[in-house]
Amino acid sequence: MTIQQDLRSTQLDELIAAESATFVSRQPLSRSMRERASGVMAGGVTSSWQITQPQAIWMSHGTGSKIYDVDGNEYVDLHGGYGAGLAGHAHPAIIDAVQHQVTRGTHFAQPSERAIDVADLLTDRFGLPLWRYMNSGTEATMDAIHLMRAFTGRDLIIKVEGCYHGHHDSVQVSVLPEEDEIGSAAFPNSVPSSAGIPRAITEKTLVVSFNDLDGLRRVLEQHPGQIAGMIIEPIMMNAGIIPPDEGYLAGVKALLHEHGALLTFDEVKTGLTAGPGGATGVTGVTPDVICLAKAIGGGIPSAAVGGSEDVMGFVAEGGYEMVGTFNGNAMAMAATYAMLHDVLTPQVHVKLQELQDRVVLGLETTIASYGLDAHVVSVGAKGCVVFQNDRVRNYRGFLGIDDRFNHAHWLTQLNNNVFLPPWGKMEQWLISVQHDEEDIDRFLGNFTLLAEGLTR
Ligand SMILES: Cc1ncc(COP(=O)(O)O)c(C=O)c1O
Repeated sequence: MTIQQDLRSTQLDELIAAESATFVSRQPLSRSMRERASGVMAGGVTSSWQITQPQAIWMSHGTGSKIYDVDGNEYVDLHGGYGAGLAGHAHPAIIDAVQHQVTRGTHFAQPSERAIDVADLLTDRFGLPLWRYMNSGTEATMDAIHLMRAFTGRDLIIKVEGCYHGHHDSVQVSVLPEEDEIGSAAFPNSVPSSAGIPRAITEKTLVVSFNDLDGLRRVLEQHPGQIAGMIIEPIMMNAGIIPPDEGYLAGVKALLHEHGALLTFDEVKTGLTAGPGGATGVTGVTPDVICLAKAIGGGIPSAAVGGSEDVMGFVAEGGYEMVGTFNGNAMAMAATYAMLHDVLTPQVHVKLQELQDRVVLGLETTIASYGLDAHVVSVGAKGCVVFQNDRVRNYRGFLGIDDRFNHAHWLTQLNNNVFLPPWGKMEQWLISVQHDEEDIDRFLGNFTLLAEGLTR
């Protein structure tokens, strides 16, 4: 920590305390909802991720780029429902598609024509020929892991320290491990990320560092003929944003294939938000399997797994049964088609990039003029401020960042009517297709308020 940062750090706790008091005073109805909910919902929320400090915010509705809490506060929504909100709220094309489908029945558990159209559009964007559907990112990565194991007949998988792939057993390993648990950089430990995961399953997941080809080679050589494949966020997005080094992903693919193992890209966060063809398009590396969810459904639960002829052909032959009552649900398919075909036109992708450029320029200008020890990382419609000067290359570089800066930023934005995702340094903003320059300028103005608060 520099002297400058140290000085600011001494003001941080006071800033957080003051902003937290403002936060609570603006949300009395959220507080009473929480009290009511606590009697009937575990922890008073619908997902444990909603238990945020100083209190969970209860939402009323959303329209366009804005959301409204139950207390009537309006926010520019840059949370985007953890990255699902690329269409913004109540987008006319999504409304039309869902309204049309809802009057014709929402669920048949039989395929409908839209499912073929969606697969065609996904193939165009991601370059993989065969697709199946699910409802959440967790289901998609679970199927991908099962598929890699079934296809290769091997049990071990590899994941990257600090990547999150949902909440099933095989990937709940070394997601946010503490410093005293992680082991050496050369041989990271496999650390269970939740209670209730049998040690026997955790041991089947081997852990490597992001951007470390030597580490991956070592693991592959230590377990010859035993590794089914590797799952990776091709651009890490659950530890801020960590881009791959030039050539890293191509190297990963080559090493895995040399050892008869498969590569899965978890594009649950990056798919569509990183660019028209996700991180696959940005990096130019096509894996054997891709997992998509979040943004593809335009706000309706929808997920997909795509794969090569070989790997998904194995599913076609019955080698692995990829199943689910709601897979290819008619309403999900209608919304996903509208998202891919009507909402995300090529011009819209250009507009998203222009807005992102405005964000990055504005933040960098403030960082420079206030002399903050911080930098901006962005890809497509996603971005984050990293509150240190050094670029981060892997989870260990991210671990030491003082999260109080991000919490102070979050509170300052919320208190001034911009909704960023909670969980500080882990998360990113998402610009939706319905945001405009005024929304961006509100966000930038609030960042300047933070900079003033930190340097006063
Ligand atoms: C990269 C990644 N994969 C998978 C998931 C799990 O998705 P879901 O919450 O839809 O199960 C997430 C959720 O945040 C994610 O960020």
